[in-house]
Amino acid sequence: MKSSLFLVATQALLSYALSSGGRPDILIRDLAEKRDAKQDIVTWDEHSLFVKGERVLIFSGEFHPFRLPVPSLWIDVLQKVKALGFNCISFYVDWALLEGKPGDFSAEGVFDLKPFFDAAQKVGLYLIARPGPYINAEVSGGGFPGWLQRVRGLLRSSAPDYLNATDNYIANIGKIIADAQITNGGPVILFQPENEYSGAGDYTPFPDGSYMEYVLQQARDAGIVVPLISNDASPLGHNTPGTGEGEVEIYGHDGYPLGFDCAHPTVWPKGNLPTNYRSLHLEQSPSTPYSILEFQAGSFDPWGGWGFEQCSALVNHEFQRVFYKNNYAAGVTINNLYMIYGGTNWGNLGHPGGYTSYDYGSVIKEDRTITREKYSELKLQATFLQSSPGYLTATPGKSSDKIYSDNPDITVTPILANSTDEASFFVVRHTNYSSFESTNYKVKLPTSQGTLTIPRANQSLSLNGRDSKVIVTDYDVQGTKLLYSTAEVFTHLKQGNQTLLILYAGPNEHNEFAIEAPSSTQVKKVAGDESFSVTSSNSNFLTVNWATPKERSIVRVGDNILVYLLDRNAAYNYWLTDIEGTKDKVVINGPYLVRSASLKDNELHIKADFNASTTVEVLGISGTKVFINDAETSTESSDFATTANVSVNSPSLTIPKLADLEWKYIDSLPEIQKEYDDSQWTKADHKSTDNTYQPLVAPVSTYSSDYGYHTGVLLYRGHFNATGNEGNFSLWTQGGSGFAVSVWLDDHLLSSFGGNPANASYRGKYDVTGAGLEAGTEHVFTVVVENMGLSENWIVADEMKQPRGILGWRLETSKATNTPISWKLTGNLGGEDYLDRIRGPLNEGGLFVERQGYHLPGAPTESWVSHSPLEGIGLPGIAFYSTSFDLNLPSDEWDIPLAFSFSNDTAASGIYRAQLYVNGWQFGKLASNVGPQTVFPVPEGILNYNGKNYVGISLWALEQGGAKIPGLELVAGTPVWTSREKVELVDSPGWKKREGAY
Ligand code: GAL
Repeated sequence: MKSSLFLVATQALLSYALSSGGRPDILIRDLAEKRDAKQDIVTWDEHSLFVKGERVLIFSGEFHPFRLPVPSLWIDVLQKVKALGFNCISFYVDWALLEGKPGDFSAEGVFDLKPFFDAAQKVGLYLIARPGPYINAEVSGGGFPGWLQRVRGLLRSSAPDYLNATDNYIANIGKIIADAQITNGGPVILFQPENEYSGAGDYTPFPDGSYMEYVLQQARDAGIVVPLISNDASPLGHNTPGTGEGEVEIYGHDGYPLGFDCAHPTVWPKGNLPTNYRSLHLEQSPSTPYSILEFQAGSFDPWGGWGFEQCSALVNHEFQRVFYKNNYAAGVTINNLYMIYGGTNWGNLGHPGGYTSYDYGSVIKEDRTITREKYSELKLQATFLQSSPGYLTATPGKSSDKIYSDNPDITVTPILANSTDEASFFVVRHTNYSSFESTNYKVKLPTSQGTLTIPRANQSLSLNGRDSKVIVTDYDVQGTKLLYSTAEVFTHLKQGNQTLLILYAGPNEHNEFAIEAPSSTQVKKVAGDESFSVTSSNSNFLTVNWATPKERSIVRVGDNILVYLLDRNAAYNYWLTDIEGTKDKVVINGPYLVRSASLKDNELHIKADFNASTTVEVLGISGTKVFINDAETSTESSDFATTANVSVNSPSLTIPKLADLEWKYIDSLPEIQKEYDDSQWTKADHKSTDNTYQPLVAPVSTYSSDYGYHTGVLLYRGHFNATGNEGNFSLWTQGGSGFAVSVWLDDHLLSSFGGNPANASYRGKYDVTGAGLEAGTEHVFTVVVENMGLSENWIVADEMKQPRGILGWRLETSKATNTPISWKLTGNLGGEDYLDRIRGPLNEGGLFVERQGYHLPGAPTESWVSHSPLEGIGLPGIAFYSTSFDLNLPSDEWDIPLAFSFSNDTAASGIYRAQLYVNGWQFGKLASNVGPQTVFPVPEGILNYNGKNYVGISLWALEQGGAKIPGLELVAGTPVWTSREKVELVDSPGWKKREGAY
């Protein structure tokens, strides 16, 4: 079923938040007096941030280190972000992973942020720290550990028990982040306390200024001195500077204009382009830089959803062009895209509204490969803005479909310089923003040479379909004035007395630029196959008009200016790369990725990645030797570039055929056997609950979090003494969207609920009349309930407290009495005293094999029978299969994505749930009847690419006929010849006999 309750709920909440309105009574106080005197390294004015006195445009991408538990790979992602032209990463921290038990904070191994800070520092990226305590983020509990279900006070309010609960976490994580602030030589420049403190349920006073004030003070007490910035759920004006209690220093908000419905990837609903951002900013926070702390860069996808290819299609390169340029038109200068790399909800860390993959349809995919069109479009935009310092101080004006264009179907929003000595920017789009039309138009733009109608040659400009352009005027190109360009600027640089300007445009367009040059100046074609025309309309400016070439034309203006006229698709191959340790840059054309460049002793060293044989061109530097990934290349020089050929011969890879391996099998539901001993299980004996969200309907609480079980599969055993008259057994369970439940009476399956995206809970009725229960005999119900993660707490309404497990039950007899049941339960072994300190508090659930630790490498499989998951089990139950294999892959030089691919054929396989464990890390949850995910990428570092691997699969067969996995393969993607740093194997401790395991 392709729908999701969660999705509907989220949208409802979003519109709720939007309708709750801004605050017209905002009083703007003199901000100077509020300025934090604790540091002067990160400051701001109404235009932008300054770092060390220098104005900066913050172009940032969201990345969650905890969603890629291989610290040595973080630098790979960071370099890919830096190569986009970005200078910043924003990151959440997930409290639930760091404080599994109250008071027991631990951030070691894959949870240690030090290597992340070091990587950012090394790559040259700033960081925005967003540790919560509440984060949302599609993680279990929105980042709240499960034990918060037992806090009686309202979460995210000034209830003292809630505030106390946050203290330890924020003191610890705050100190870790404080130490990494730029003031201490680290990369952290901004700190966001809370997240979207933007709405509350009915009857809850909101906003609670004293709560926000507490959260801000916690950060300061932990040593945070960099500016405190907010992330309002949309421009609602909460906690803006000047509003008093709870105000942040810099106001920011987020925006997801296309929402999260990947079902209809081409639908851009009417009115969803936010054209009011600038006016709201002027109302809400005119004295701070315009900040969008999260802007849509993809979408999450729920159980039963459409898969991330479709989310990527929804938020595609056209979306980037139209929506991101609309944000530039509003003058955004702190701009964070959510997500730039999504990653994986491994080890039960996700919320119930999502499955294992958190790819998000981002520009960098879950397996760290880069998407050509989305990634490259973003690179063109970020590189342009970072090459255009004038953007930071220009002033956004009002959109018009008349003033600046001759065609009302075209709307232009100006970002105007304060004088014609500086650049102005004109953002062009279709008036109907979602139009697929091709529209011809001319623009009328104010310039230093008066208002000009452009193009001046006898053609029109054209805007083809869902596109948007930034036209510049009076734009400084290394000391030469570009009077205007209707083609977009990629970048420009200077080498000696040579100036390089790179422009690009879409196919089937005519464009024109005018550049300062005496009328006698010659314009020559240097390369390329297309023609262009030159006119000199006044003595100071040369006009060049051209049709977009198939690839490129290169023209020389006079002796010293080289202009590249690129087709946009060709422009995608260009990279602007810092030359390490200098302020200089180099342009490199060709590689799949350019990570870095350095210049010493007349040697240019480039670190780049290649997915095919490629001709590499170096522009802007000549006369040096060129080394690519440490090997000297033989180069040829033309009068505009140095060229080298890189040939890539993909290695042949030996990937084991999983179906052919020997698999070992063990029963993982011994609990239904008569002789099973549950004396070690936790007794459900709490006569009351501290859970304020869900009042008890039963004599004792069976809520799993009341007993410290917050993650993975839950098991219950209900003992009763039969009267012989038992009839209906009613059972109310809750596991979150898509969850499944199986109910057994002794060793006999009564029935399973296979789950669907719309059901977070389920009320089952099971007739046991025919079960032959004799008076005075002892029996057991065994209930397996899947916990899909704890609900988020997006608005202040305590939804995170929605319990998991059994909510209520009744065993009725024909005599109108109820037979009492005494319940025991278990989740992961140890509950909050979780055993696996390396993989953290959430990785293990309550399956028998998990409690025993059999998902860990070195499990005692010798005594298990040989049997394959492809054969499966013919009866309902839970099976566990494991195998081992060696890999020997050339991963020092090649980045080789690997994924476990399950075939899906419910008709042939039966309905089942599977969990995939790789060297003990849970890297997949599959719901055969719900979907959509069947392919599970697993990163190198979790997988040992040069040694032994232990893989386990749990198979929970929900129906009478049992189930099997119809097909399973380990699949390699295209190897990329890589210059990334060596991947270190993550510590994956093996099995040891667990004392007391049951
Ligand atoms: C935002 C929230 C993020 C994430 C996002 C959707 O509203 O701040 O944490 O949940 O929505 O992916």
